[in-house]
This record gives sequence, structure tokens and C-alpha cells, in this order.
Amino acid sequence: MGVDVKIDGLTKSFGKQLIWKDVTLTLPAGEISVMLGPSGTGKSVLLKTLIGLIKPDEGAVVIEGVDIATCSEKDLYEIRKLFGVLFQDGAMFGSMDLFDNVAFPLREHTKKGESEIRDIVMEKMDLVGLIGAENKLPGEISGGMRKRAGLARALVLDPEILLIDEPDSGLDPVRTAFINQLFIDLNAQIDATFLIVTHDINSTRTVPDNIGLLYHKHLAMFGPREMLLSSEEPVVRQFLNAQTIGPIGMSEEKDADELAAEKDMGLPPLPPIPMQLEPSNGIPRTYQRPPGAWCRENGVTPPPGSFQPDPTTPMSSSQANPTEAPH
Ligand SMILES: Nc1ncnc2c1ncn2[C@@H]1O[C@H](COP(=O)(O)OP(=O)(O)OP(=O)(O)O)[C@@H](O)[C@H]1O
Ligand SMILES: [Mg+2]
Repeated sequence: MGVDVKIDGLTKSFGKQLIWKDVTLTLPAGEISVMLGPSGTGKSVLLKTLIGLIKPDEGAVVIEGVDIATCSEKDLYEIRKLFGVLFQDGAMFGSMDLFDNVAFPLREHTKKGESEIRDIVMEKMDLVGLIGAENKLPGEISGGMRKRAGLARALVLDPEILLIDEPDSGLDPVRTAFINQLFIDLNAQIDATFLIVTHDINSTRTVPDNIGLLYHKHLAMFGPREMLLSSEEPVVRQFLNAQTIGPIGMSEEKDADELAAEKDMGLPPLPPIPMQLEPSNGIPRTYQRPPGAWCRENGVTPPPGSFQPDPTTPMSSSQANPTEAPH
């Protein structure tokens, strides 16, 4: 399941400030996509445009044949039921406990009775590891717990499309690893179309099926994970490998002299492409492709050492015994 989100020629300015121009991409149904970009490049604005909270100046966002950018308020209200959204700031109601926060979309958008609402809320709280915290106020819990509560709330309406803005900002590495695994397991379970905005390069390299990069007021590239991780395009290469060498400077683009000096130094080799994270819940992901499939199909030689199992993570049974004959 999950639905395609077709973004075509999207352009947005606030007053004289152009945010991005001519953004065109399709979030494939049921796949996990990550959007990257330096701070202020309009990633959050893009998410808000996808749910119709911000109207683009030009272009279309088509979901199930309806253009979010131009449809009626009534159609927009219906289409929004397909979405679950975790905003960057969590956007929890401070005076409501976690239970009521998570129950809010159910009370607002459905006619379900309180006992059914309780079952759904507790199921989602369990999924994000928050059982026992339902009566706490958002101000009484850690940032990581607030993110997970926001995620539980984004899930209660069984979304077809999940938009998640910086789930890992302010999280420690262990919690980030847990939340990444949760996304993979959730995707296996609900098959929704995911778009995750993050600054975490490790998550970007291991979680999604597709990666996009917003840079310099346009979409620099969007495509399968292996395509971007093997790309020699300077901006993509620099961003996805978190390097100082490349066109992106500390505060703005580097000038020609700086770039020429770097060219003489030569670029470090691309690091190996890691294995993609696999589900831990025993449910295979419909759209997870075998390691190296994109590279093979497109005649691209991945960097040496790619697709080796990470020695620090437990191996799945298929990785542990790749040559073992089935019994
Ligand atoms: N409602 C608004 N009115 C005017 N300007 C806005 C509005 N929302 C966002 N902006 C501007 O649009 C630009 C992009 O903002 P956005 O929040 O999308 O960046 P971002 O890529 O999500 O950054 P970060 O990584 O820091 O979260 C910023 O310059 C911001 O000030
Ligand atoms: Mg943002």
C-alpha cells in the first residue's frame, strides 16, 4: 500500500526570498525517502507544502489524482486524512498529557468511541516504547520521548504517507539507532510512503530507499540510495560524506580560488556504501531491494568494500548465512 506523491515544478518564495524553484520528484509508494539540505534550504517548508499548509507559487503536488496546491478546502481535508506528520518542534499541546495528545487526531477526525480510542492509543504508545508515560505532560518528559510521542500521534490514523521532520535532532546516538530501526520496522508493518527530513548522515546512508538533496534553492538530486552514495556530483558527494572539501563552504558557497586550490589537492575516495538497515520484526519490507541491485542494474561500480555487513550490528539470518542452502 502507500501512495505515490508526485511533486512537479514546485516553486516557493516568501516575499522576495526565493526558497526553492522547480522542485520535481516522486516519492514512490511504500518506500522510505530522506530529504537532506543545509539549514534554511526549505526542507520544512517542503513538508508543509506537501500537506497543503503552505501554498506553492507554482507547481503541483498530486496525490491520488488530486493536486494539493490547487484543490478545494474540502478535498484538502479529505486528502489530509492520508497523512501522518511529525513536525520539527513536535507540536504537542503542552496542557494535555501524552495520552490525550496522541488521541487528539482520533477524537478530531473519527467517530470512534473512547474504548476503541484507548486501544489504538495504547497500541501506538507501545510501538514507540512509551507505555507507562501516558499520563505525563510534554513538559515533564525528555526530548527523545517527546519525539516518540509525536510519532505515536502521527501514526494513530494509520497514515498512507508519513512525513517526519528531523526525528533525530537532539537525540543521543543510541536513541537515534532505535528510532531508525523503528522506521524500518514500521515501514515493513504499514507499507506507508515515508519522507524523513534529517541532518544525520549515518541515518541517511543506512535507512532510506531514496535520498534527495536540496541545495542552493533547487533540488540538487533525488534518487535511489545507492545512486547518491556512489555519485561523484560535487555537492552530493560532499554532503553525503560530510566532507569539508567541495562546493559547500561554512557560511556560503566557496569562491573560485578556494575551489581551484581544492582541486589540486584531489578528493578523498568515496567511502563504502553500507548495507541498508533490515527489519527486526521478522516482517520483510515490500520495497527493500537487495544490496548492490541499483549499482548492478546501472553498471555502476560501487566504492571498494561496499555492502559488507557492519561488524557492530547483529546480522540478520540471511546476512549471517548468505551461501547456506535452504533446507
Ligand atoms: N511562514 C514563513 N514566512 C516567511 N518565511 C518563512 C516561513 N517559513 C519558513 N520561512 C523561511 O524559509 C526558509 C526555509 O525555512 P525551513 O524552515 O524550511 O528551513 P529548513 O531547511 O527546514 O531548515 P532547518 O534544517 O534549520 O530546519 C527560511 O529562511 C525561513 O525563514
Ligand atoms: Mg526544518
